[in-house]
Amino acid sequence: MNILLLGSGGREHALAWKIAASPLTDRFYCAPGNAGIAREAECVALDITDHAAIVAFCKTNKIDFVVVGPEAPLVAGVVDDLAAAGFKAFGPGRLAARLEGSKGFTKDLCRANNIPTAAYERFTAPGPAKEYLKTTGAPIVIKADGLAAGKGVVVAQTLAEANAAIDMMFEGGLGAAGAEVVIEEFMVGEEASFFALCDGETALPLASAQDHKRVGDGDTGPNTGGMGAYSPAPVMTPEITARTMDEIIRPTLKAMKAMGCPYKGVLFAGLMITKDGPKLIEFNARFGDPETQVLMLRLMSDLVPALVASCDGQLKAFDLRWYPDAALTVVMAAKGYPGDYKRGSAIKGLDAAAEVEGVEIFHAGTKEADGRIVSNGGRVLNVSAMAKTVSQAQRLAYQAIDRIKWPEGFCRRDIGWQAVKREQGG
Ligand code: AMP
Ligand code: GLY
Repeated sequence: MNILLLGSGGREHALAWKIAASPLTDRFYCAPGNAGIAREAECVALDITDHAAIVAFCKTNKIDFVVVGPEAPLVAGVVDDLAAAGFKAFGPGRLAARLEGSKGFTKDLCRANNIPTAAYERFTAPGPAKEYLKTTGAPIVIKADGLAAGKGVVVAQTLAEANAAIDMMFEGGLGAAGAEVVIEEFMVGEEASFFALCDGETALPLASAQDHKRVGDGDTGPNTGGMGAYSPAPVMTPEITARTMDEIIRPTLKAMKAMGCPYKGVLFAGLMITKDGPKLIEFNARFGDPETQVLMLRLMSDLVPALVASCDGQLKAFDLRWYPDAALTVVMAAKGYPGDYKRGSAIKGLDAAAEVEGVEIFHAGTKEADGRIVSNGGRVLNVSAMAKTVSQAQRLAYQAIDRIKWPEGFCRRDIGWQAVKREQGG
């Protein structure tokens, strides 16, 4: 098969690594890709918001299968546009991608189908939103309805913070994404990321992971896209996993099908494991970043037939095999991230780092310039390792990081702390 992958992050490098290893893959392209992906695929400078250009590329290069990495093209309907032109693509169509594209849509779907999630109300003007806050008190969570590149959620500790978030969103601080706002109950528990592959009807559980959203050690500082992850997440016991499938994933698939927009692709549930069981924080209509980096390390089976089966409605009899080992990934980011940062600094020592046993380095914001690897984004590298335990994988990943010479970068030094504490009996 000739395959085109869309995206340029660490998630896409991990997907590219698996796709390139598949015996089913013939020609393999990635748009736009990065310096690491260039080792797995032929990178092409396509604008992935330009669906007509993607379709034209598929025609010229006889593409059999398109894999979409990020959410924006899914929510914009790239899968529908490819299908209309006769091309098979992995991921949900525009209407099904509303599970990520509109928080209000997902909350209403949960309410109508008894899917456990935080209590909420939707608002289109600041006045009623602020009145409602008087009845809830704080802490309380304010969310922009639409896609806001990870910046659309404010966990307000006080009513003053909550009111300020309402003003910021309705005054256009997040663009069109904030034209509608969801106010929801603050949930207490441990967070986990759970992934299921869906074909419209059947959901095949993939694996669980835990992300580290805050920029600083000890989970401090502002939220980021994710500073590191590990898999499996010990909080996702077999019982909690079964409840997640029965109470959240399957009812969602059933409801989407009943609404005439069956969900195909990977359904990523951000969960809060509360004392009453798993509750949905949010859905994403794509693989997680950096969760995919650890999932792909642990996936023993060929990824490509699984993605094709998701498109073809053939997951019912499908099975995937996983390594029982733990995988962990540490994000190296440019100093300043998630605020302003510079691009273009040279990164050295990557080959020596990759020689540490069990280590795999996935690139995110990198590019090649004059034969050197230079930074080209906020999150730049994912130094990943697999071992028998999270503690061992953590040791290997940091051993590799210590071989990387990149003074303009930084990373958290405590990725995996919750699992390590558990392993040490704490
Ligand atoms: P989201 O972008 O929806 O994943 O939210 C970002 C982060 O905000 C989540 O990972 C949680 O840590 C936190 N969060 C979101 N919604 C809630 C909630 N209802 N209760 C507690 N924390 C939340
Ligand atoms: N790591 C969280 C996300 O991909 O949204």
